[in-house]
Amino acid sequence: MERSLNQAQLSDNHTRLVIPRPTVITLCGPSGSGKSTFAARNFPANWVLSSDKFRGLVCDDERNQDSSKDAFDLLYWILDARLRYGRTTIVDSTALTVQVRRELLQIVHRHDFAILLLLIDAPEKLCRERDAARIDPPPVGAKVVEKQFKLYQEVENNAQKEGFDQIIKLNQHEITNLQVEIVPLSLEKPEQCGPFDLIGDIHGCYDELCELLKKLGYQEENGIYRHPLGRRTVFLGDIVNRGPKNLEVLRLVNAMVKTDNALFIPGNHCYANYRYFQRPESVDSNSTRNWIERLGTKEYLEVGELINALVKNAPPYLLLNQNKLVVAHAGIEEHMIGKLTPRIFNFCLNGEILITPDGNKQRKNWAENYRGKPLVVYGHTPTTKLFPEFRNNTVNLDQGCVYGGRLSAMRYPEMEFIQVNVHAAYAERKKRGA
Ligand code: UTP
Ligand code: MG
Repeated sequence: MERSLNQAQLSDNHTRLVIPRPTVITLCGPSGSGKSTFAARNFPANWVLSSDKFRGLVCDDERNQDSSKDAFDLLYWILDARLRYGRTTIVDSTALTVQVRRELLQIVHRHDFAILLLLIDAPEKLCRERDAARIDPPPVGAKVVEKQFKLYQEVENNAQKEGFDQIIKLNQHEITNLQVEIVPLSLEKPEQCGPFDLIGDIHGCYDELCELLKKLGYQEENGIYRHPLGRRTVFLGDIVNRGPKNLEVLRLVNAMVKTDNALFIPGNHCYANYRYFQRPESVDSNSTRNWIERLGTKEYLEVGELINALVKNAPPYLLLNQNKLVVAHAGIEEHMIGKLTPRIFNFCLNGEILITPDGNKQRKNWAENYRGKPLVVYGHTPTTKLFPEFRNNTVNLDQGCVYGGRLSAMRYPEMEFIQVNVHAAYAERKKRGA
């Protein structure tokens, strides 16, 4: 996953910390480093789960370490509940033991939430001074602070491997002065209400795409297709590979996206093309190599630029029309909608492969179990039937055009299907469970 897609960023000369939501923010630092002060200054009280406060709630003594098990059980329980409601949550504890971090990570991953570790950095001397000056809660003592510092060094060295999506270290100046901003994910576009023409997997079938756009009422001028009524196309990924005219499709889609006549989400094949230009040795997809490695130098460079422009910062799915419409190449499960993690990114591009009891690979049929409110429009798995069908508020627009089927579009909000027949079967259908 492109690291910038869902990452918190220190910006404007480290005066702002911009964090996409929803997320879990785990504060980590020794006693007296300023975790609770930072949390109180930057987040609504309901968002902050403080282990000290839970100790206070169970035994009226925030420093009573004997109550830690009960305090953390409560903290985990409420975290789990908040994540079920999709709520951004701050965990305010020292987070200095592997067990606590592991438990937090387990809960967070169970809910497919992103998790950021914020290291609240402070010199040991400052922590000791602050601790000694405390009245309520009372000091933990210099020995405890010293021990916590040793653990803190270990976290700095090991946290990267533990499974946090991102780790940011804040120094004392930043902790005191930063403005924290919680922002929506860039894939949320509730204001984009259409009308749209959603188009399924094109796979280089350029002639059929032009025919379909004309059938939908688009008019071509200098390689750009525009709709006279201002409708916009949404390309559902896999615009390239397997078919005859990948470069032409790339040019067309790019021109439409650039001029705001279209939206685009990548599919696994688009992403394989993109990775090829980053690290060719990491791509074993023949359908990518077959056409890219045959290009002349000029075209090779052009394809690299077009793919980069389209795919690099493209979100893996889009949430449109007041959250009533989701587009994702391979689909999406209900609980993933409105979130973004590497696992969700991967699911939206590739789906999930299951191993059947007899050892065969099969694509998970997520649509079978989908019960969500937003309509999900997707592609990826070519249907054997030539006409798209609604199933549980989802619809698959991949009618296997490149394999001799049809290229499909759906008008939204009208829910009308418009199709063209492919001119020839350009590739052989793989035998895999749909
Ligand atoms: P905190 O109570 O914020 O520290 O500050 P903490 O990291 O959460 O500590 P534990 O783990 O719960 O024990 C500790 C003391 O330092 C002062 C606070 O007012 C508090 O008395 N403090 C904190 C400052 O004076 N300046 C700061 O910038 C931060
Ligand atoms: Mg505290």
